[in-house]
Amino acid sequence: KKLVPGVAGTTYPIERLGIAPVVMADGPSAVRLSVKREGDDKKYFATNVPCETLLASSWNNEATYKIGKILGEECREYGIDVLLAPGVNMMRNPLCGRNYEYFSEDPLLAGKMSAAMVNGVESEGVGACPKHFAVNNQELNRLHNDARVSQRALREIYLKNFEITVKESQPWMIMTSYNNINGRHASEDRGLLETILRDEWGFEGIVVTDWGGGYDAAKQIWAGNDLIEPGRYAEVKRIMEAVKSGELAESDLDRCVKRVLELVVKSIRHKGYKFSNNPNLEENGKLTREIEPEGFVLLKNEQNALPFTKEQKVALFGTGAYNLILSNSVSVRSLHGRTVNLDEGLRNAGVSLNEALDKRYIKHMQNEKKRLAPFWKLRRWCTYDLRPVELRDIRNHTARAAEESDIAVITIGRNSSESFDRHVERDFNLNMHEQAMISAVSRDFHSRGKKVVVVLNICGPVEIASWRDKVDAILVAWLPGQEAGNSIADALLGKVSPSGHLSTSFPMKYADVPSQNFPHNEVEWCAESGKNLSRVFDQKQPIYYDVPNIDYTNYEEDIYVGYRDYATRKVEVAYPFGYGLTYSQFEMSDMSVKECKDGYKVSCTVKRAGNFPAKQVVQLYSSELAPEVDRPTIELRGYKKTPLLQAGESTVVEIVIKKEDLMTYNEKASAWKLTKGEYDLLLGFDSQTLPLKHRITITKEILK
Ligand code: GLC
Repeated sequence: KKLVPGVAGTTYPIERLGIAPVVMADGPSAVRLSVKREGDDKKYFATNVPCETLLASSWNNEATYKIGKILGEECREYGIDVLLAPGVNMMRNPLCGRNYEYFSEDPLLAGKMSAAMVNGVESEGVGACPKHFAVNNQELNRLHNDARVSQRALREIYLKNFEITVKESQPWMIMTSYNNINGRHASEDRGLLETILRDEWGFEGIVVTDWGGGYDAAKQIWAGNDLIEPGRYAEVKRIMEAVKSGELAESDLDRCVKRVLELVVKSIRHKGYKFSNNPNLEENGKLTREIEPEGFVLLKNEQNALPFTKEQKVALFGTGAYNLILSNSVSVRSLHGRTVNLDEGLRNAGVSLNEALDKRYIKHMQNEKKRLAPFWKLRRWCTYDLRPVELRDIRNHTARAAEESDIAVITIGRNSSESFDRHVERDFNLNMHEQAMISAVSRDFHSRGKKVVVVLNICGPVEIASWRDKVDAILVAWLPGQEAGNSIADALLGKVSPSGHLSTSFPMKYADVPSQNFPHNEVEWCAESGKNLSRVFDQKQPIYYDVPNIDYTNYEEDIYVGYRDYATRKVEVAYPFGYGLTYSQFEMSDMSVKECKDGYKVSCTVKRAGNFPAKQVVQLYSSELAPEVDRPTIELRGYKKTPLLQAGESTVVEIVIKKEDLMTYNEKASAWKLTKGEYDLLLGFDSQTLPLKHRITITKEILK
């Protein structure tokens, strides 16, 4: 930890053998290291990049690759060999506390984005470490929860994202997850780590535990989990005894040692790279600001409420505007230099705010900071629910603000964190003060013919159906990274059109979510003591209460995660997977499907029909007409984001897929199967609007 203060950990050096230490730091929202160092007045800042959900919502692999490069460059210049990112786990349930560190509810989108980030990081000469392998989809009791999942759901959903990552990038490391999978700890599962990860997928890097994950070091080595972090002497002793007693074959240990040495010789420290401690923070910050709107999702924009102009006076509502959330968790808390809140971002863009309202909020935020301070002291981390409350007397301000201002902008914030999952009533649903604020602002602005815009600065989906009709525009900014206020202002003022599409569905209500067996509402913070009242909180020892969704979780929904469920059961959603508007309109035509070597070239023409430069995302889904096994009515098979299209400009988009992409996992045969029959290939701009269709016939069955 002395080598680069504040990083997650290192391997042990062995000077006498010339073995250098390997330094590993967390991501994915920033390179995590201490800003201050003993006796050194330099500040070691890191760029806070957009959260992974925003990157996946960009559907732009190139953008994610560039963010990976930023993270890689900052690792290298701070003397860090491996970035412990990206988080790749599936969004099985919208309430998982770490979803914002993950990409999507769809394994193809998650896998492609993960590979793009890995390739970006590693193009800078340092390593990446996709995590947490695997099936780590809830935070409560994460060290011991047993995820009970079918082989088919494993292969088609929970491993598929990692499979794509390994096959489309070569991560230096992969981190095993804290949880058990079907009764065996992920870090002790040889079938997972040797047979699937290495023999089947061709992974060549090393496997590291999550910090403190797993139970038995000898089993971990046997299973092919090469590196145990943070590394305690008891584990060394256990391994030595197991080798001496013959319980652990020395050859099993040797293969782990060899792999760790292969990592060492790849590391910049071993190569003696002279790192500068001066990464390109300025440039990286500018690029981050440019990329952020690529992942902003415009859900609603009635009568072109957006973009507005800087001549319009803005009434800024919501504590969230004065406290924008970038990202907050132990493994992602970036100790970057700056946060640009929305009031500052709008002022930077030349917008004038309603001063009286601004003053009221600034005073309120100071009071809230004082009120919350003791609780922040109590909590080591996971402070996501210590949010300032909304103004209780909001009604006294909305009428006057509506008189004096031209447009209202309301910001709603949500954050979450490791070790805890979100809460339905207190987190997924808006609380009564937030609802009261939206109603009061809507009533007083609409009665004067003025528009209301909502900005969602959120870590994951929130309930939206009960209030969306009261407002004219809704922009999801996710956790946008350090340029937040500036990049949101860029989008609101039309410096750039948002072009994000949802990487996860927004359900009408939480009860519609297919994975109801999930520990929602288990987290009860005791406000006074700051203690977590839920039964478990990172317990160091397994505690077998045999409580469902705590000690074990049955993945009863199987492969029906997110839109796979909603589309198949025809469940209405507030906004579907893949949905997103821009400030322009687009037309799609001329679909063509050409058979090529082992798959199909699917193309179509996209034309910009609106009068604003914008990008569009073409999504390709497949649907088997008469499947022999039940399967989702649609599954994402490919996507492509267009370049920025000028007025009237059109472009031909081409997506290539393999026949094997249409396979399902056959548990009886323990193999992937492509069944003969007819399939529809569908093109659209979201998973519910698929106007172009082409039928293909598979004549030859494949089993592999
Ligand atoms: C944390 C996280 C993991 C992180 C590691 C090192 O508990 O689960 O994502 O990389 O420990 O900080």
